[in-house]
Amino acid sequence: MSPASTIAIDGPAASGKSTLALHLARRLGYLYFDTGVMYRAVTLAAIRKGLDLADEESVTALAEKVEIDVQPKLDPAGAPFEVFLDGEVVTGDLRTPEIDRNVSRVSAYRGVRHAMTGLQRTIGKRGGVVMVGRDIGTVVLPDADVKLYLDATVEARAHRRFDECVGRGEEVTYSSVLESMKVRDAYDSSREVAPLKPAADAVVLDTTDLPIGDMVDTALVLVERHTRKVMPSDEVPL
Ligand code: CDP
Repeated sequence: MSPASTIAIDGPAASGKSTLALHLARRLGYLYFDTGVMYRAVTLAAIRKGLDLADEESVTALAEKVEIDVQPKLDPAGAPFEVFLDGEVVTGDLRTPEIDRNVSRVSAYRGVRHAMTGLQRTIGKRGGVVMVGRDIGTVVLPDADVKLYLDATVEARAHRRFDECVGRGEEVTYSSVLESMKVRDAYDSSREVAPLKPAADAVVLDTTDLPIGDMVDTALVLVERHTRKVMPSDEVPL
């Protein structure tokens, strides 16, 4: 394992986190772990049970009880991982407008975050991981070797998300995607527990007009810089 063994990537919706993480994970042979799917899975579980999502106590009790697992998928087509909710594959059910609308409320509950963060840390401590979320560099893995915070204008991010939804055959309008993204950004940034913000030692990248290749190259330079810092130069892998 190379010394830069934990890479934390945070930022708002559609800022480029998953694209970057996927490229880095493939290049470095690391696990790609998207923590957002865990909050989405809890939200799905609560909706399926018919819980009132404003009822913090019952949503938290459910989050403490459900079993969420994320397994890497070797098949290069489709999602790079499979998400299990109490043993059932739910990967395809996590990106609906209903979950988009409700996930930030669920993820703001202290007890829900506590339940999810424990598992994320256990996975992070194994090393060889690119972990993506909102609070990875600040709360989940404050000692991560490399921390990146991606951002872009909300319009650019809404365009990306709109294109993804259309690509999946969903019927949405650009303005509804933009509106829902603004609401989610505001929720995520202003919550009391683990709000969305760059860690003090994160490198911030504005991806509004940044081509994917440049974004990946910049991140690889940071990983290499970290590796050179902690390894004698004759041992740095090429
Ligand atoms: O893919 P996108 O950026 O739209 O969202 P996501 O990463 O799947 O995260 C969905 C929601 O989960 C976010 O809007 C946050 O409310 C929450 N989340 C969080 O609170 N902490 C994380 N580490 C990851 C996601």
